[in-house]
Amino acid sequence: MNLKLRNPTEKDLPQLHKQINDKEIHKNIPEIPYPCSLKITKNILKDMIKENKEGKKKNFIIKINGNIAGAAGLTKLSKKHKAEVWLWIGKDYRGKGVGRKVLKFVTKLGFEKLKLKRIYGTLLASNRASENLLKKCEYKKEGTLKKNVKIKNKFVDELIYAIIK
Ligand SMILES: CC(C)(COP(=O)(O)OP(=O)(O)OC[C@H]1O[C@@H](n2cnc3c(N)ncnc32)[C@H](O)[C@@H]1OP(=O)(O)O)[C@@H](O)C(=O)NCCC(=O)NCCS
Repeated sequence: MNLKLRNPTEKDLPQLHKQINDKEIHKNIPEIPYPCSLKITKNILKDMIKENKEGKKKNFIIKINGNIAGAAGLTKLSKKHKAEVWLWIGKDYRGKGVGRKVLKFVTKLGFEKLKLKRIYGTLLASNRASENLLKKCEYKKEGTLKKNVKIKNKFVDELIYAIIK
């Protein structure tokens, strides 16, 4: 598997849209709607490009054998201190070790290049795949954020996992 992470560009739109327009992504990342219109994907991509230019975030497109397989990055970046990690893998590429490789890469970048002390991830308490992935990459559970998000008029719990340098 030829896996690469690189900066997003406007040319990524068609393939990114194909991958992001997915029920499972929406279920676990409710900010990404389903169905996700081409206009919304365009705005997501535009923001990813802009935030990278401004240095506010580190957003990556995940490519496998030349095709877009997902996206990942570090957000809420506070220089030489901390950041929140995020990622999603397209449905054709899940369960193949891609998430683990990407999370390890982004974590390493955060510690070695950005000199962070803390990287954390928040996830819906129902998201087993994400929780297991964080555990496999040596993130430790710090707690439960009770009723932290509102989804379809229900308040649901989130978990917070972190890795410290
Ligand atoms: C969560 C997600 C990123 C995992 O990526 P992935 O590439 O499928 O994960 P990997 O194949 O690298 O698996 C790594 C570990 O995660 C866990 N895992 C992956 N898929 C799982 C599933 N469906 N159920 C339970 N655990 C799972 C396993 O522990 C696995 O390790 P193992 O193979 O040694 O058992 C992916 O499922 C995804 O993008 N889901 C939709 C969006 C999302 O939930 N994003 C995260 C929001 S916080």
